[in-house]
Amino acid sequence: MRMVDIITKKRDGGRLSEEEIRFFINGITDDSVPDYQASALLMAIYFEGMAEEEQALLTEAMVDSGDRIDLSGIEGTLVDKHSTGGVGDTTTLILGPIVAACGVPVAKMSGRGLGHTGGTLDKLESIDGFHIELTEKQFADQVNNLKLAVIGQSGNLTPADKKLYALRDVTATVDSIPLIASSIMSKKIAAGADAIVLDVKTGEGAFMKTEEDARRLAEAMVGIGNAVGRKTMAVISDMSQPLGYAIGNALEVKEAIETLRGEGPEDLTRLCVELGSRMVVAGGKAGSIGEAEGMIQKVINDGSALALFRKFIEAQGGNPEIVDDPAKLPSASEVIEFKAEADGYVQSIGADDIGLAAMHLGAGRATKDEQIDLGVGIVLKKKVGDAVEKGEPLAEIHTNGKGTDTAIGMLREHIIVGPEKADAPALIHGDIQ
Ligand code: URA
Ligand code: CA
Repeated sequence: MRMVDIITKKRDGGRLSEEEIRFFINGITDDSVPDYQASALLMAIYFEGMAEEEQALLTEAMVDSGDRIDLSGIEGTLVDKHSTGGVGDTTTLILGPIVAACGVPVAKMSGRGLGHTGGTLDKLESIDGFHIELTEKQFADQVNNLKLAVIGQSGNLTPADKKLYALRDVTATVDSIPLIASSIMSKKIAAGADAIVLDVKTGEGAFMKTEEDARRLAEAMVGIGNAVGRKTMAVISDMSQPLGYAIGNALEVKEAIETLRGEGPEDLTRLCVELGSRMVVAGGKAGSIGEAEGMIQKVINDGSALALFRKFIEAQGGNPEIVDDPAKLPSASEVIEFKAEADGYVQSIGADDIGLAAMHLGAGRATKDEQIDLGVGIVLKKKVGDAVEKGEPLAEIHTNGKGTDTAIGMLREHIIVGPEKADAPALIHGDIQ
């Protein structure tokens, strides 16, 4: 088999066979396919697309390029959630305990990553003593006993995806739905998921800016998941403004605790119910989304989700007292109120820029080696559509001195108040199963 023939076939709009896709992915993994030929094929895929079957074959070949996490010692259907990334998205911290309290095992492998705030791991590490270094046996035992454990990324998962992503980044081929969908799904499957619930974000602060693109990506991923035997469902959710109020690491842990208590922001709570109910159905613990919603309301109202969060923190070495006394979390030395300059209604809160403002304060890292300041961030006091009076706080800036003026300037530019009434954006733009 020759790479040039595979490129020609895709260039001319043909469908690649399993053998051809494996030849390409194996060649990427062992470096026998040079970057220029891989890049040419990526560009051909960018323009010609891939049929659903090709996308599933590509995903499986990428999974097979590296290790698979073996979670066979864990009882039950393992359901994973993936978000395409947003600002102030605290859902993982909330969904873990909620879904686990409904009896669905959550064996979460989590990363740090780059962005406006840290990843789920960074957020959890704002809990004093919490650690993610578990052996495979400890991890499996904890999931079997408690239904919830979080571990750091380990093993050589999907090396072909890593190489392809690096090439796509420099060849203008990132924005290809089949390539994005297979990249995301290969990582979830290699990490051991039996079923997958996807939260595809749309709007200004999302990777997919338009609803149409978000829907296409969601459909591609659901198609792949179901084709490779993993029950997969997707929700398309709004990211035109940040989710909830808090954007920051310890600030989001506090917001997660409030939500687990049933006292969280309305949008964050609603999204957790939408995603959590799908996870409970995918995990086989409820026959319908409606039934699962009832179970979730119950584990919030009777305190069992919060109790499970406490036990989970304790099991991984953290101080469980933060649940009842969030003042024990890291905090910033100064809290500055950012006030409205006129009466009116909040017209927009640019999610991306508010996230960047939090990053300037030190809540996130722009490069791999940067240190995060766990206590800092932004807490919104208003959301889009809310009425506001001159002098009322729109947001709080939690700062330790770094980036304060930049953050204030960004809030001034990107929280828009105007005289016209404004509608809150719809939170859920669609769902696919
Ligand atoms: N995120 C991924 O994991 N892969 C992509 O290709 C794009 C976003
Ligand atoms: Ca939030």
